[in-house]
Amino acid sequence: MAQLIAREHWATLLDGATGTGDIITRLLAHKPVLGRTVVAYDVSAEMLAIAQRKLAPLGDVVQLRQLDAQSMPTVADSSVDAYSMSFALKICNRDSALKEAYRVIRPGGRLIILEASNIPWLPLQWAYLAYTSVCMPVFCWLVTRGDSSAYKYLLRGIREFPSAEALAAEIGDHGFREVTFKRLSLGIVAIHTAIKPESNAVPNNALIGQVHPRRSARVDRDIGKCEAVDRIAR
Ligand SMILES: C[S@@+](CC[C@H](N)C(=O)[O-])C[C@H]1O[C@@H](n2cnc3c(N)ncnc32)[C@H](O)[C@@H]1O
Repeated sequence: MAQLIAREHWATLLDGATGTGDIITRLLAHKPVLGRTVVAYDVSAEMLAIAQRKLAPLGDVVQLRQLDAQSMPTVADSSVDAYSMSFALKICNRDSALKEAYRVIRPGGRLIILEASNIPWLPLQWAYLAYTSVCMPVFCWLVTRGDSSAYKYLLRGIREFPSAEALAAEIGDHGFREVTFKRLSLGIVAIHTAIKPESNAVPNNALIGQVHPRRSARVDRDIGKCEAVDRIAR
């Protein structure tokens, strides 16, 4: 993820739900930020405090802000060249977060999202879901001596989260173009990238909140698959 962000052309980067700043720390190892602006935000002050300590040795190169991905009134429209988010879209309200992402990215700017995804080969996906719902909780419970809440938080929404194809369609429905995704680790996670179009051409997100017939069929099919996986895994 950090390498991908580093390869992009940007002068202003916004890293959403940055947590303790892991992605940004790795990014800075790949790309000097001289003359560039890196803003990283999180809704949690505690996470930001840890990020601040971690980033301190690198100097004053990252602005940390406490913001909610779903509503960022203090971030101006079309003000960032690139907007990244890792492992948080499934925790946030996806529709609001994508709307806000679209608003703050400048025309021609880039959206980069790393998130849990689906393994396209269903038997392996079922095995993975069974592993995450049975073996991992027990293991985490043992390791944490009875507190697996952090693990549960990390996996929150993982079952309901759309497939890589369905998320790509959703991102497109929010107005982004050139939506692509790359599966990693067999598809357990995927990186989606997209561009906010230069022109003010009417995006097909005019249909957000309404039924988009083409998307609806695809999303319904994917959701159906996920539900089937879920039923079997249970
Ligand atoms: C799983 S962590 C990921 C952190 C970091 N992006 C990474 O990959 O290491 C999820 C983060 O999302 C943050 N978060 C959850 N909801 C948020 C929201 N609505 N707005 C901003 N941050 C949010 C949490 O505070 C947490 O730091």
